[in-house]
Amino acid sequence: MNAHYTGIVETWRERLPLARQARAISLGEGRTPLIRLDNLVRAAGVEAQLYAKFEGANPTGSFKDRGMTVAVTQAVHEGSRAILCASTGNTSAAAAAYAARAGIRAFVLIPQGKIALGKLAQALIHGAVIVQIRGNFDDGMRLVKEISRSAPLTLVNSVNPYRLQGQKTAAFEIVEALGRAPDFHCLPVGNAGNITAHWIGYSECAGLATAACAHCGGDCPFLGQASTRSRPRMVGYQAAGSAPFLRGGPVATPETAATAIRIGHPQSWTAAWKVHEESGGWFDELSDEEIHAAQRLLAEREGVFCEPASAAALGGALRDLKRGKIPAGSTVVCTLTGHGLKDPDAILGADLPPPLEVAAERAAVERVLLDRLG
Ligand code: F0G
Repeated sequence: MNAHYTGIVETWRERLPLARQARAISLGEGRTPLIRLDNLVRAAGVEAQLYAKFEGANPTGSFKDRGMTVAVTQAVHEGSRAILCASTGNTSAAAAAYAARAGIRAFVLIPQGKIALGKLAQALIHGAVIVQIRGNFDDGMRLVKEISRSAPLTLVNSVNPYRLQGQKTAAFEIVEALGRAPDFHCLPVGNAGNITAHWIGYSECAGLATAACAHCGGDCPFLGQASTRSRPRMVGYQAAGSAPFLRGGPVATPETAATAIRIGHPQSWTAAWKVHEESGGWFDELSDEEIHAAQRLLAEREGVFCEPASAAALGGALRDLKRGKIPAGSTVVCTLTGHGLKDPDAILGADLPPPLEVAAERAAVERVLLDRLG
């Protein structure tokens, strides 16, 4: 066996709708850690096998790399010379990086002033053409869909079915690691592509069709390779100010400090409701305060730093475990969608103790250290 891991496309090619001769455009994405969160379980006083799938460990720091490697591989195979997306930040970072890798152009539309610093830096350094629109993500999404209908640009938002095909591989890895599907899978929901992609992945593992798959429409060529018969209940958490699934329809002016999921008009609306129905899961919402508290708890107790949007899944799962909505003893996986380094402002603006400032002298430094040793 070749020990050099080379990413999603080469690992899962048999389960991806790519031409055999399509050359993989990869950064070695996937194979992210599945981290058991026993400290948090103990701190919360609940009983569960709780895991975080840390997608922040992907090459550009978010789960978007899984979908982008497949979408860009297909785009290049089809002869495309430029890709286009609207983004709250992570998609633009991944699009910019994979376009650089492929030697093609990336054009990204971002909402002005509402994108985390790290994500903007990534799009800049990889040489994307960045267009800040005076509008939000939903405006950007409407525009890129319109433009890509006539312009010679491949749309790489999750309405491109190759994106979800790549993202479904996270479910494969989880089933592989646990030896079965978890009882519950919790994710933050914005455009609702990722929750849909995971359901497609779990369904394929179980040898079951899902109506949520826009690519095969439930007539799945990858069924019949079942490694487990079970599928998890899928639970989607939204930020309270951007929670169309809780309101039952689009939210015109979504607001949340978790800018990654500041989305009022999800593109995978219908598919995500099918996931909800087929899996017997639910949607719920968290305040920005609850999201930040979960982000901090995870960082302090487990040493895992995720971005605010990602913490929504964990905060929601812990709350539902405490309430008994997720029964004691369950195996629960939370996707941590992005790395905390993406959004340093979220931390520097938080109510955390500032660095201590002292003279560059041994006695002064020793005093403050010993003071705090307890
Ligand atoms: N978490 C993070 C860190 C994200 O960047 C996103 C989406 C989500 C969760 C929600 O995933 O849209 O599949 O429900 N970010 C997109 C972007 C919209 O442009 O980067 P979803």
